[in-house]
Amino acid sequence: MLTVRNIRVAYGGTVLGLRDVSLDVPAGAIVAVLGSNGAGKTTLLRAISGVLGEHRGRVEHGEITFDGESLLSRSPAEIVAAGVVQAPEGRRIFSGLTVTENLRIGAFGKRDRSATAHARRLVYELFPILHDRGDQRAALLSGGQQQMLAIGRALMASPRLLLLDEPSLGLAPALIAQIGHIIADINERGTTVMLVEQNAAMALGVASQALVLTTGEVSLSGPAAALAANEDVRDLYLGGDIQAAVGLELAESGPRPRLTRWTR
Ligand SMILES: Nc1ncnc2c1ncn2[C@@H]1O[C@H](COP(=O)(O)OP(=O)(O)O)[C@@H](O)[C@H]1O
Ligand SMILES: [Mg+2]
Repeated sequence: MLTVRNIRVAYGGTVLGLRDVSLDVPAGAIVAVLGSNGAGKTTLLRAISGVLGEHRGRVEHGEITFDGESLLSRSPAEIVAAGVVQAPEGRRIFSGLTVTENLRIGAFGKRDRSATAHARRLVYELFPILHDRGDQRAALLSGGQQQMLAIGRALMASPRLLLLDEPSLGLAPALIAQIGHIIADINERGTTVMLVEQNAAMALGVASQALVLTTGEVSLSGPAAALAANEDVRDLYLGGDIQAAVGLELAESGPRPRLTRWTR
């Protein structure tokens, strides 16, 4: 569905955000992108959404395609129209507007009324609180509810590929687990997901495939269960037992799947 091939991203012509990143997001999957602060996770999402220019960044090399069509020369609005939608980072919702108004903005530009009605039903089903608090200003929502609104707003555009940038950031563990379940639920209802996370426990609990970004490069990639079992990943990103941490069932790995490791 989405392919990223050898992309290099520079900010302001010099600072390298990504060096040489390739990945595939197959239709129907949840692909997790892990990595520490500054690894290039947000940069990767910006490159896919076409918003690098707003941050003085540029794809210098490589290709990004969605269903075989290049995204690189398209505007952010065209990329959304193609079905690739990113939930706002850091819960950047419109705090002065009501919950309902925020959701309406997510469907902005959509002409297909029945698709929008379907999306709204899905959002209210996933997040009943957004229905109950419809008239309330978004600023009055709790952190977890604001995150739900951010995801709900993205879903209003009926994405085929949903991009999430650290949806667990700043949330309490119980809420992180809840967000994890919601992401799995969204995926089961037919939306492909690319999940950028520092919370490897949650991300590997819901993802089928995962990769680790290290200073702008893919250092490790493979089935999520294999990464969860990998010692480096455990040491770096997972404190203790992941299943206990999030209460999510990891897919049985069976014979240990092979990991692809990049060495320089
Ligand atoms: N607008 C920007 N201008 C210059 N450098 C940036 C900008 N945004 C990010 N970077 C740099 O790009 C690298 C990757 O950042 P980022 O993609 O935000 O990482 P992550 O999301 O994994 O924390 C970092 O070195 C960061 O300082
Ligand atoms: Mg980031």
